[in-house]
Amino acid sequence: MPEFPCDKPVLVTCGLPYANGPAHIGHLRTYIPADMFVRTLRKMRQDTVFVCGSDTHGTPIIVNAEEHKMPPAEFIKKYHLLFADVFKKFQIDFNRYGSTDDPTNHERTRSIVMDLQKNGYVYPKTIPVAYCKTCARGLPDRYVEGVCPYCGQNARGDECDIGCQRHLEPGEILDPRCKVCGTKAEIRQQEHFFFKLSSFGDFLQQYLDTLHATPNAVNYAMEWAKELKDWCITRNLEWGVRYPGHEDLVVYVWVDAPIGYIAFTEEYMSSVGRDWQSIWKGDSRIIHFIGGDIIYHHCIFWPAMLKGAGYTLPWGVVASGMIKVNDKKFSKSRGYIVWVEDDYLAHGFHPDLLRYYILSYTSHTKDINFSWKEFQTKINKELVGSFGNFVNRILTFIDSKGIDVHGTVDPEVSAAIKVAADTMTTEIANYEFKKISDAIITLSDFGNTYFQGHEPWKLIKEDPAACRQVLYNCVQIVKALAVLSEPLVPAKAAEIWGMLGYKPEDLANASIDEAFVPYENVARPKPKILFAKLEDKKIAEMEKILDQRVSVAEAKARGQKEAEPEPKMEQITIDDFGRMELRVGRVVSCERVKGSKKLLKSMIDLGEDKPRQILSGIAEVYTPEEMVGKTVIVIANLKPAKIMGIESNGMVLAADSNGATLLTVEKPSEPGTRIH
Ligand code: 2FM
Ligand code: ZN
Repeated sequence: MPEFPCDKPVLVTCGLPYANGPAHIGHLRTYIPADMFVRTLRKMRQDTVFVCGSDTHGTPIIVNAEEHKMPPAEFIKKYHLLFADVFKKFQIDFNRYGSTDDPTNHERTRSIVMDLQKNGYVYPKTIPVAYCKTCARGLPDRYVEGVCPYCGQNARGDECDIGCQRHLEPGEILDPRCKVCGTKAEIRQQEHFFFKLSSFGDFLQQYLDTLHATPNAVNYAMEWAKELKDWCITRNLEWGVRYPGHEDLVVYVWVDAPIGYIAFTEEYMSSVGRDWQSIWKGDSRIIHFIGGDIIYHHCIFWPAMLKGAGYTLPWGVVASGMIKVNDKKFSKSRGYIVWVEDDYLAHGFHPDLLRYYILSYTSHTKDINFSWKEFQTKINKELVGSFGNFVNRILTFIDSKGIDVHGTVDPEVSAAIKVAADTMTTEIANYEFKKISDAIITLSDFGNTYFQGHEPWKLIKEDPAACRQVLYNCVQIVKALAVLSEPLVPAKAAEIWGMLGYKPEDLANASIDEAFVPYENVARPKPKILFAKLEDKKIAEMEKILDQRVSVAEAKARGQKEAEPEPKMEQITIDDFGRMELRVGRVVSCERVKGSKKLLKSMIDLGEDKPRQILSGIAEVYTPEEMVGKTVIVIANLKPAKIMGIESNGMVLAADSNGATLLTVEKPSEPGTRIH
């Protein structure tokens, strides 16, 4: 049984962008595939609602608004409008693009928190929270920076963004410092409210088994569900949704943000006279499109919260890969970023070209590299050289030769259209957008070969009826291409529809079956070039902008480094050193830690009765196979610690914070040899 269409309403949502800066192409990595998904389901006559909105609360917004000397409400409005505008230009066509500051969301959030309280899933607890004496304020979430207790990387107060990607609870971060002034934070005791996430372990294990998720989402989540901690859901902030009964607190942003999905559904459904409860309390299919960095929130917190409050659970979670720029990790501070408005649209690039690039580059769960050169090559070969070339060749030929477009569709042509249409209906349920876009280009390649092979420019003189028949089939392929490519390149597909003599705005409503309905000759306007070639000069200009941005960022980073005084080195006595027991070890066996990209678990012979189990954050540099047999240096008397629930009895030394180069001994030494 195909998954779609089904007789339940489908709700598709996209991770909410923070309204705290302009859109970059990394944002579009999630929204464009979600829009293609929705358009395709609608072409399959699936009842589908599509919502999203701006994420407007939380410390990233407050910190940025403060920096810009704007009240948060004014600050979020500016970026909310910018996002809404970008989505419109890219035809990412939400039924509702709301804001988590909408009154509907405040109400829905408070109501869900009260349901959780009523159902016994919330309790108060006094906890240590970071406080900055210099700034004279509490330091929730992103106001604080320090070290991740799980993987040792630098982390933000609420998440280990560089390292293991874990959510961090207030008070968990090690060595906390104020983000604003750098002062070492003081710890104070304060009452907060906790959600009993730990009581949802069994539920989540079973739920994740049935979730229609991309493997990158579900595999990590399965591991995380084994070690759940209760979750602090309140913060001492002014800006946010007030916590019911404790108006001095607001709810944590990761509570009211996903509840936005419900609020935006309510807003849309009431505007069209439908009941939102048919989706969030009834039998529906809720599918979340998210970035690969927010899997924890969507596969762990969110379903537990919905379950605890008695709402319908998500049916699917679709996590996208990331975007790299020039093969480097996307980074605003290092200059590897492409802004949607200033870089892309303002330089006259058509939104559909980027839609195509993102959708056709690779599988949805893999990373995309964006470079202007690759963009040019791909667009010129596939959209200009195959797709656009075919459409323009056919429409120009029939226009210039005055061909009367009548005939019958060849079985060979119907079969080629069917392959593309079938790929679309099958692969959409697998979230395989690239397979669909490839099938569309294969159809235009087929069209080009069909046209070329039948040589209509010769037939027109030798056998006009045969020529008419060939061109009729070519026009049928053009029609099918318009119908099938509408979810991929909606604006360009609508242009083709117009060139075929139809109303461009009608195309979005055409079902997939329309691709097989024989073309009826109607009056057509003069054809226009569908895609113009991307010229070298233009691409070189764009490359220069990006290179300059990277150079400026590098110079800034160098300048900052030079300006920073070398940290003063603390001196220790020989006795201090003597307390540390450094020993030579040999790696006996080694494996990756499930659910972590960074950690290796090694069994290390230290000359004791049995090898020691030690975890190290070096999995991105060393493979387990490489590790086996290596001689390493170990701090043997380090207190045992649990990392991701696994005990580690010591530490392997390496020459930089990423564990890039392991320390070893110059001449062979027995395991257990002491280092002085
Ligand atoms: O990570 C982010 O960008 C968040 N603003 C996503 C929120 S998605 C949802 F849960 F609301
Ligand atoms: Zn970490």
